[in-house]
This record gives sequence, structure tokens and C-alpha cells, in this order.
Amino acid sequence: MEAVASYTPASMSLDPETRLKDTFAAAIATIGGDAAHGMDPAIRPSGKPEFGDFQCNAALGLAKKMGANPRDVAQSLIDAADLSDLCETPVIAGPGFINLTVLPAALQQAMDVMDTEALGVTPDSDPGVVVIDLCGVNVAKQMHVGHLRSTIIGDSLARILTRLGNDVRRENHLGDWGLPIAMVLHELRAAGVDLDAINLTDLDAAYREAQAKAKLDAAGLDAARARHSGPHRIAELEAQNEGASASRAAAAETLVALQGGDEALRHDWQKLIDVTMTAVQDASDKLSVTLGPEHNCGESTYRDDLQPVITHLEEGNFAHVDDGALVVDMPDRERPLLVRKRDGGFLYATTDLAAIRRRTQQTGAIRCIYAVDARQRDHFRDVFDAARIAGWGVNADGHDVELHHAAFGSVLGPDKRPLKTRSGTNATLSSLLDEAIARGTAEVTERSLRASSPTHGLDHTALAAIGRAVGIGAIKYADLSGDAVKDYVFDMDRMVAFEGDTGPYLQYAHARMCSILRKGGEDVSESPWGLEDVTERRLALLLLRYDQVVHAAAASLQPHRIAGYLREIAEAFSAFYQACSVMQAESDDLRRSRLRLCDLVRRVLADGLQLLGIDAPERM
Ligand code: ARG
Repeated sequence: MEAVASYTPASMSLDPETRLKDTFAAAIATIGGDAAHGMDPAIRPSGKPEFGDFQCNAALGLAKKMGANPRDVAQSLIDAADLSDLCETPVIAGPGFINLTVLPAALQQAMDVMDTEALGVTPDSDPGVVVIDLCGVNVAKQMHVGHLRSTIIGDSLARILTRLGNDVRRENHLGDWGLPIAMVLHELRAAGVDLDAINLTDLDAAYREAQAKAKLDAAGLDAARARHSGPHRIAELEAQNEGASASRAAAAETLVALQGGDEALRHDWQKLIDVTMTAVQDASDKLSVTLGPEHNCGESTYRDDLQPVITHLEEGNFAHVDDGALVVDMPDRERPLLVRKRDGGFLYATTDLAAIRRRTQQTGAIRCIYAVDARQRDHFRDVFDAARIAGWGVNADGHDVELHHAAFGSVLGPDKRPLKTRSGTNATLSSLLDEAIARGTAEVTERSLRASSPTHGLDHTALAAIGRAVGIGAIKYADLSGDAVKDYVFDMDRMVAFEGDTGPYLQYAHARMCSILRKGGEDVSESPWGLEDVTERRLALLLLRYDQVVHAAAASLQPHRIAGYLREIAEAFSAFYQACSVMQAESDDLRRSRLRLCDLVRRVLADGLQLLGIDAPERM
């Protein structure tokens, strides 16, 4: 042990794989000259334990570029790479592969360093204020699965970035302003509906009614739809059509009055918001996401910022008048971004510009992240470019700002078409969540009937709490485990199963580890590491990657990297548990080392699940 130089986690990765990549990248640069340019160190986990833990395959490509013998190049790389504190003497195999085995002492020491509350996760090197735009429901409309995805993904991104030391602000950019809301307000008032007795289902129906009326003469919108313009842009184009219908004219009048501060309208408008938010709060409570009224930051909160945005764009010559409308030209595309309509009205994009302005110039954000449906890609591309043109790509402190659309795909039904959650049918969002909770609870309750189950004898309340964690964990994992931009099929049977690529599978693996540790019942926090079996080594090496995985998820804004990693951990744990006895280990030291390994795996699993917003019950 003494021979091993100390790791300093802040400056050097704990993860042997990362260290090997860094070391070989430097060695390639040293010996390769020009040929080294753009060369990947090509460090891969070994396919077979007899080849060591890792392989470096870079010598072959480099030799080709240098016109040299690959085995000679491999030897030069080994000579140039200082690995004495990390690996046994590297072995050249076949045409020039380098086999690498991590020194037991180095592995043990790295595991010691990792075994703290932080689990080896280091803070971001440049943390700052990050705004996460999530949920984004529309007032008077039923929350749909897209808003569910936005909430789940946004909440997970917020957790990940918080974990790395950023000051995260969740903002719910409520659709509570503009023509659509004026339409429904007008519709309800015209019909004389009592707004005190209304619920979201009625509101949603009124919304559809209003929209249907407004669409009667909406010619020429097919083109907009074909270009995948978002719902707002389509609504706006509708509003712009010549010869707007009477209902749209009335809605436009209502909007003007609302914007002008008409008392009675304001009062009714607030009612619509309250009704909507009650339903949203109900869904976020069921989901146990961190989202409450304090995160509301609706479109209406920008109403006084819109004119200043326009003035800034005009004064800086960033926008110009085109056929009566104000537009920002995009350098690399034909279609400009419309920021003020001919009739003087503002748009969804204008509000989003005002939001970027506030987030970067007042809140001081260095990252603004939008967890929003992929179908709004064009909208965000235009808005982000316009914001940069306006000078808001740099925040008030002169720090560059990253504007990022964390786009997600659609949730599909069994027919492979976008899942519809509609009021009046049995598939509202809320009923979907209730069903998941009921399925989780049924599964957990049934398992508890077996005398050998760790949940046997728990009371109804305890079982319900576990069942709820399982049902909601199932939904969240299904949402977060795949690449978010891809569509996925909502299949409740598959999602709640304890086997397969599911949330409950990971939760169950965690609960099993808890059982083992309960049986172990001893404090192993200081026990020396054994880690001799190949399955133990593999598990340990995987654990040491945790820091790197969390950072990769944060940098790419892809929670699925964490999900995939946790699944690898659970599988490696299974392999270990099958190959090695824990309680019946050959010696006391070995038993303690293995219990300590179980404990560290359990904590990484729980921590990773927490970053996905998934609870990890101790018994299942
Ligand atoms: N209300 C919008 C919708 O339902 C989503 C809002 C997304 N956030 C934003 N800043 N535009 O499509």
C-alpha cells in the first residue's frame, strides 16, 4: 500500500479507466508527433479476465499512421505512459494490443477514497445559476403526457445539476397568457358558465370548443403543420389569417381587454389558473417531483417585458419591419423569426425572448435548459439564435450562456400513435398515475403474503408507500431510461415488472442489498478491501466510474446515461452475488469486505435513483 502514490480526487480521477485514457492520450501525443492528431486512446474493458481489466488498442491505428510496427509502437506507448502506481506491468498481446491490470492496492485505495458520503462525485469546475424550464402546462387545458415527460425529465436534470454544485432554479413556464387563453375565457363568459363551479374537465372542453370554432376558416395551415411548427405557432398563424372568424375577433378583443387590466376579466382569468394549478399540483404530488407554486413563472409574468424586448431589438437594429410585422433575420435560414405581428400583438417567441433576457440578465444564469417536446425544435433554434443576436448569449456577469433545448420524443400508445390522455375518457394523466400506483401496490402486497418476503407482516400503510414508490418509479424509469429524443411506447405491464429494464428491477436490486446488509448486521465501514474475485473487481471498477457518469449525464443533459449505468451496476452485482458467498465467505475479513462492497453498491444505486427522482425502498 505504501508504495502507491496518493490520489488527489480533485485533480485526478478516481476512476482507473479515466486515468488510463488520460495517460495514454498523453503518451500518444508524446510519441506520435503529427500522427497523434485526433487519435483516440481506445481504452476498453477487457473481454476476458485473463487479458486483465482493460485493453489499449491505440497502437494499431497509430502505427499505421506512422508507418511503423504496431508492437514497437505499443512498447513505445508503454514506455511513455507512467502507470507504475496504477497498473501491473502492461503486456503486449497479438498484433499490438496492450493488456492492463489495475494493481490491487490501487483499486483498494481508490475504493477507500470513494467510500464517503459524496461517493466520489466531484463538483462541477464552473458551477453557476442554471434555469430549468419544465412542466409548461397550459392554463385551461388538461395536462398531457408531454407535460408529464417535461416534468419528469426537468426534475431529474435539476437533481443532477444540483448534485454537481449548481444553483438550480426550476421555472414552470405556464401558458397563462395570449390568444388561446383569451379564446377560452371568451367562450366561457359568452356561455355564462359559473367559474366558481368549474373543474378542469369542463375548462378543457371549453378550450376545445373555442379552438374548433377558431379553426373553421383556418386555411393554409397544413403547410405550417407539415413544417412541424409547434402548437403555438399554428395558433398564432391561425390568428393571423385574413378574414378571422367572428369568434377569433371576439377572443382578440378579450385579449386586449385582459392585457389592458380589465378587473372582471382578470378575476375570471385567475380562476382558470387556480383550477388548472390544482390539477397540476395533484399530479406533481403523486409524482413526488420538486415542483410547487413557488416555481410558477408563467407567460403572463413577462407581459411588461415584451415592449422593452422589442425596443431593445429595434434600437440595436437586430430586428426590422417586414410587411408591417417585426422580424429578426436569421443568418442561415430563409424564414425570419416573427416577434411582433402586424396588428401589434406579441407571440409565444416574444415571451420566450423576454424569458431568456430575464434569466440571463437578471437571474444571471449560465445555462438555460428547456425540457420541452422535440416538436418545438425549430421554435427554440430560432429563439436561441435571436437571443444571441440580441446579446443575451452572455449573462450579466459576462459569462457565456448555454441555451439548450433538452428535447424529448412522444409517448406512444399500443397502436404506436401518440398516447392520448383526454378528459372524459379513462385515460387522463391523473388516472394513469393512479393506475401505476395501484399496480405497484398490488404487486408489493402480493409479494408480502409470502412468509419469506422482507415485507411480510408490514401494515397496509407501509405496503401502500412502497407500492406507490414502485408504481411511480416504473413510470419515471420508463421515461428516463431511453434516449429522451426517441419516442417510446407506454406499456404499463412492462414498466411495472420486477424483471427487465425497469425501475422496479433496480428498486428490487437495492432492496435485496438492504436485506443482505440487515443480515450482516455489522459495521464494515473501515474493513479492508478484498476484491479478489473477478466479479468483485468488475463491480469495483464499475463503481469507480460513478463520478464520470454523473458528469457525462450533466454535460449532455441525458439522464439515461445514469439509468444505463445503474442497470450495469445491478447486473454486475447479480454476477458477484452468484459467484461469491457473502455471509458464508471463506474468512471473516472476506465477509466484511464483501459486506462493505454491498453497502457501497447499495448507496450508489440509491444515489443514482435519487438523481432520477426514483425512491429506493428498503424492503420490497
Ligand atoms: N406551454 C408550452 C406547451 O405546452 C410549453 C412551454 C415550454 N417552455 C417555454 N419556455 N416555451 O407547448
